[in-house]
Amino acid sequence: MNVLHVVGARPNFMKVAPVLAALQRHKNIAQILVHTGQHYDVSMSDIFFEQLGIPAPDVNLAVGSGSHARQTADIMVRLEPVLLERKPDIVLVYGDVNSTVATALACAKLGIRVGHVEAGLRSFDRTMPEEINRLVTDQLADLLFTPSEDGDRNLLREGIAADKIFRVGNVMIDSLVRLLPTARARKLADLPDRYALVTLHRPANVDDCAILRGILESLLEVSRDLNVIFPSHPRTRHRIADFGLDPGQLRLLDPLPYIDFLALQIRATAVITDSGGIQEETTYLGIPCLTMRENTERPITISMGTNVLVGRDREKLRSELANILRGNARKGSIPPLWDGRTGERIAEIIVQQER
Ligand code: UD1
Repeated sequence: MNVLHVVGARPNFMKVAPVLAALQRHKNIAQILVHTGQHYDVSMSDIFFEQLGIPAPDVNLAVGSGSHARQTADIMVRLEPVLLERKPDIVLVYGDVNSTVATALACAKLGIRVGHVEAGLRSFDRTMPEEINRLVTDQLADLLFTPSEDGDRNLLREGIAADKIFRVGNVMIDSLVRLLPTARARKLADLPDRYALVTLHRPANVDDCAILRGILESLLEVSRDLNVIFPSHPRTRHRIADFGLDPGQLRLLDPLPYIDFLALQIRATAVITDSGGIQEETTYLGIPCLTMRENTERPITISMGTNVLVGRDREKLRSELANILRGNARKGSIPPLWDGRTGERIAEIIVQQER
């Protein structure tokens, strides 16, 4: 049986690694790894392959950056001949990035079965490009691997047949569990005892000058009580430079490799982010997370975990942070099936698909 995986952007890499490793243990499975090239900087891609132990991709489509239409279309056009040549029995796609939806569309048109890892998440906010990617990918997928019960419910409500839905848990947590000991052992120079770890890259937060300026002002206010360490996505760095904004005493770093970022997360007093995956990682780690968004497609991080939505409400950020600094952060617990074995459960289901 031929399984072809398609990844493209940074958050895909920690999700594909456990599935590749788990399928590797099944002798009758041949695997092909395709990188779309959506992310191409060493710091956004190569270093993740290295740290996660992912083999070099068999094919790199080298699509690079572009508008949504161009990037999505380029991936489809360049992927189609690969699919025709390699003839996979099943294609696995991950998360909610443009590479995910482009692949699902190309496969569906060719009649190739698609499995979506991290299916069913919904923010119910269609202004987010990722929400469009999730909705379309899940309509096209044949196997839908969900991380939590809310995912199953969302899919059933959208008319997806129950026998296509498999609740397997959170695959990104597999990578975290595996590399946590390495991250704990990592020595970090120049690290203050207490600090807020910040990441921001959502277009809604960083693409508008006034909004980004307001967020930087909020973070500068935070930095009066707590050091702020801010590894920043290329999009965010470009916008800060383009808008001529001054990050002042915020410690802006280049994007960090997976293990280094994990090492910073486990020691953080609080994490402030607009990322999806980091809401989940902090929930697993029990680290307080303040999410600068009005909604989340990962509600379990609020109902069970350590996540609080603060949006762009400066007063809410201030009061939630004060709570954390007083030692009153919400404790939270680890959701079911976030246990480091999701890749194995997915592999078992794939193997059973052999016709
Ligand atoms: C993409 C995903 C987003 C995910 C994020 C994680 C979509 C719609 N968005 O957003 O869900 O949370 O990845 O990082 O798929 N750039 C570089 N080097 C790179 C990649 C990007 O400099 O290696 C810069 C370019 O200026 C590019 C911009 O970042 O135009 C945005 O990249 P893109 O892949 O379009 O979206 P992300 O914001 O990274």
